[in-house]
Amino acid sequence: MTAQNSNFKWVHLLLAWFDHGNRKMPWRNTKDPYKRWVSEIMLQQTKVDTVIPYFNRFMERFPDVSSLAMAEEDEVLKLWEGLGYYSRARNLLKAALMIQEKHGGRFPETEKEALKLPGVGAYSAAAVLSMAYDVSLPSVDGNVMRVYSRIYEREENILDPSVVKQVRKELSHLIPCDRPGDFNESMMELGAVICMPGIPDCLQCPVEGHCQTKRKGRQSEIPVRIKKGKRTVLEQHVYVLWSEKRDAVLLRKNPSKGLLGGLWAFPTETVETSKNREVELVQEKEIGYNVEKVGVAKHVFSHQEWNMKIFEAQVRGSEWQDYQWILLSDLNKLAFPEVYRKVFRMIPQLTEIAGKE
Ligand code: ADE
Repeated sequence: MTAQNSNFKWVHLLLAWFDHGNRKMPWRNTKDPYKRWVSEIMLQQTKVDTVIPYFNRFMERFPDVSSLAMAEEDEVLKLWEGLGYYSRARNLLKAALMIQEKHGGRFPETEKEALKLPGVGAYSAAAVLSMAYDVSLPSVDGNVMRVYSRIYEREENILDPSVVKQVRKELSHLIPCDRPGDFNESMMELGAVICMPGIPDCLQCPVEGHCQTKRKGRQSEIPVRIKKGKRTVLEQHVYVLWSEKRDAVLLRKNPSKGLLGGLWAFPTETVETSKNREVELVQEKEIGYNVEKVGVAKHVFSHQEWNMKIFEAQVRGSEWQDYQWILLSDLNKLAFPEVYRKVFRMIPQLTEIAGKE
């Protein structure tokens, strides 16, 4: 069998498998570019089961590009609350404005134009264009890299962008031009439910007979993932500062750029581990009175790891510039990132009001 025939065979088997048993998702069985775009952005770094309720709420509130383009950023972030990677939400809104102004409210049909939209990279452009407009572009994410590397027993580091680029090129010769969207989704689906990281479920795999890694029993070795830079570990002090009546806490809305931009935050201070600020704080009661250490928590972002110590205190006037008193009864109206939800859950009065999902 020639390489071309062999390729054709596994692609065909994969699509037949996808036709039979693909999981139901609210964005499947539609070619609506808006739905395809929003779902692909939500699905970046996020599991399908997590995304589904967010997607449904989002579509109910913003059923099309024009309704999203008119939205306030705060409302979009509130709907995104808990999904993480909030720049996705801010970019979605900016891109909706561009689509409305430059493309008459319809997601552009070419890769060149799609790539100009904020938050749309090679992966999401290919996903949306193939699924909505049948453009033959392979969308290559971590799942697809794993599947492809295993089928062809490829030993390159799948975290290396030049390897991703090479695989995208190879897949562009393989992608069936009559069903590019289904091909992309079936690769993602195989990676999610069968060709998983660690130990894949080869017995259920439609392309098992064509998988060179399976043939050699090297599933635990491939794909190769070599991380470059590690995460920065930060020691963070988070202060829950109460009003004298304990009916309000000091919070600020983060500037819209950067990590957690546009979301609400407790006063947070990065401390050097060498300097024992904890002792200082408690001795001098510098942050307020009735200072108490509530506990510790950890949160991992993509590029940072926060080791948090959480303190509670009461304060009189506010010396905290940019911070404002927020009544407990108003907390639920604001968008908080998961890292601060963890803080809510450590303080009974806040858990009751805002910590519940
Ligand atoms: N991950 C990214 N896009 C996806 C899709 N369309 N279906 C399932 N998982 C995905």
